[in-house]
Amino acid sequence: MNPDPQQLQRVIAPVQDGLERMRNVIALQLADASPAVRDMVEHVGRFQGKQMRGALVLLCGDASSNSTDEHASIAAVVEMIHLATLVHDDVLDGAKVRRRVACVNERWDNQVAVLFGDYLYARAFALSTDLSSRLCSRVLAEATRRICIGEIEQAASRYDFEMRQERYEWIAGAKTATLYAAACELGARYPGGHESMGANMRQFGYELGLAFQIIDDCIDLTASAEQAGKSVGTDVADGKVTLPVLWAYARADEAHRAAIRDAYTLEGIEDRVARLRAACDLAGGVEYARARARELLNSAVARLATLPAGPSRASLEDMAGFVLERNH
Ligand code: IPE
Ligand code: IPE
Ligand code: MG
Ligand code: MG
Repeated sequence: MNPDPQQLQRVIAPVQDGLERMRNVIALQLADASPAVRDMVEHVGRFQGKQMRGALVLLCGDASSNSTDEHASIAAVVEMIHLATLVHDDVLDGAKVRRRVACVNERWDNQVAVLFGDYLYARAFALSTDLSSRLCSRVLAEATRRICIGEIEQAASRYDFEMRQERYEWIAGAKTATLYAAACELGARYPGGHESMGANMRQFGYELGLAFQIIDDCIDLTASAEQAGKSVGTDVADGKVTLPVLWAYARADEAHRAAIRDAYTLEGIEDRVARLRAACDLAGGVEYARARARELLNSAVARLATLPAGPSRASLEDMAGFVLERNH
């Protein structure tokens, strides 16, 4: 099914003003005297991301009747941390395109990209320490730790074609769902208290984020770079065996398994995804992964039943639909 391009716009509509404030906060934080840094900030600002994590802070705040004047700043911290992870991730993955423009590592080089990612983390945490409650710093420092562990464990599992689904989900959860979970928890309970509401929304965010990464892994195998707005096929090129491939590998006979391994590892293959597609039926694996994402999203949406009905809760439900149908 083709996603409706307006779907995300409708999802974030109830928090449009807050997102505008968030973008202003980010611009202020990243205004730097260094001309070289200014070049990079201008470069990464050419094309906005979907801002889903920032929107989640605001939507969860609103849906839990917990919005404060500081929520836009929390959203800014979350989006800056997210951007830092992307800048570093593109170094790790050797990616070339992000948000329809050249990755920092491509436009400059890996050294500069590592430093710019560090710079973004530093700005994000400086802003979070200016907030009135330490909850934001605490939750996001822990989230950042888990994201790093997720990326490190993923690197340690490259070319593991027999990885159990639990471990795949643990890695995807750590590197991606963690920040979704933190965004939702902070939205629902910042500046503090409301532990059970926070825990419920944290679970909502975790399941939403895990489904998001599973779909992202499908996109890496099935979409064009033009559709995705970023480099695709990098998982295969980089030895990351994602859920659709794990499914296919587990069901393949030894000859097909060897062909799958070859697609990942033989020297000199230009288009590894095409080679993988020739080696196995990716459609079955993608369907399986999408069904798992749907299951997670259904569970996430069920958690919203405790919130009062209203436009923000409806948007959180619609975001689950967007995660499943998106192709970018
Ligand atoms: C990309 O996240 C990184 C993953 C966790 C897969 P997004 O697709 O939300 O990135 P932007 O912010 O919209 O560019
Ligand atoms: C990245 O996962 C997750 C983080 C940014 C921590 P991916 O490597 O799949 O993300 P994309 O596909 O490059 O956006
Ligand atoms: Mg990547
Ligand atoms: Mg990806």
